[in-house]
Amino acid sequence: MTTPVILQVPPFSALCNAAFALRREVFVWEQKVPEEDEHDAHDLTATHFVAIVEGEVVGTLRLIARPEHTKIGRVAVRQHWRGHGIARTMMRAAIEHARARGQERLYLAAQSDKLAFYEKLGFVAYGDEFPDGGMPHRAMRNYDL
Ligand SMILES: CC(C)(COP(=O)(O)OP(=O)(O)OC[C@H]1O[C@@H](n2cnc3c(N)ncnc32)[C@H](O)[C@@H]1OP(=O)(O)O)[C@@H](O)C(=O)NCCC(=O)NCCS
Repeated sequence: MTTPVILQVPPFSALCNAAFALRREVFVWEQKVPEEDEHDAHDLTATHFVAIVEGEVVGTLRLIARPEHTKIGRVAVRQHWRGHGIARTMMRAAIEHARARGQERLYLAAQSDKLAFYEKLGFVAYGDEFPDGGMPHRAMRNYDL
């Protein structure tokens, strides 16, 4: 288990740009998501988090607040640093951040082979599988309707 420093960073700050570069590395180069789908208008207004280990941005995710729920997305950890609890620590910090702002209802679209990761954090899959970025996904949420 590695203990990263988790920071909320303003869009297009140096640390956030490092997170955008990491997202490109993971989603575009590794997972072959079309480049035009990776960055979107939400990046201007989302709440971005980074995980830092040994001075390097090794993880990122973003929160998008919507009236019905807050969406967690673009969860990524640099390949070399996976399996050390970094995404779990980052998710817990983001969930805590949302709760502190009264955003108890959290939603995400999970790649279908990542359901177990999110289930360990209290999310439950619902609805049919759907394609996104060329990969099968399921909707998940941490609340009952
Ligand atoms: C998915 C991802 C973010 C996980 O990051 P990570 O830092 O390796 O995850 P952690 O080490 O914090 O794992 C926490 C727990 O989830 C489990 N887990 C991690 N990845 C998993 C996966 N792909 N499938 C099932 N369980 C997984 C771990 O075994 C660990 O379980 P434990 O608490 O019982 O030990 C990382 O693999 C990644 O960036 N993948 C590429 C991008 C991606 O797919 N993002 C998610 C899109 S929905």
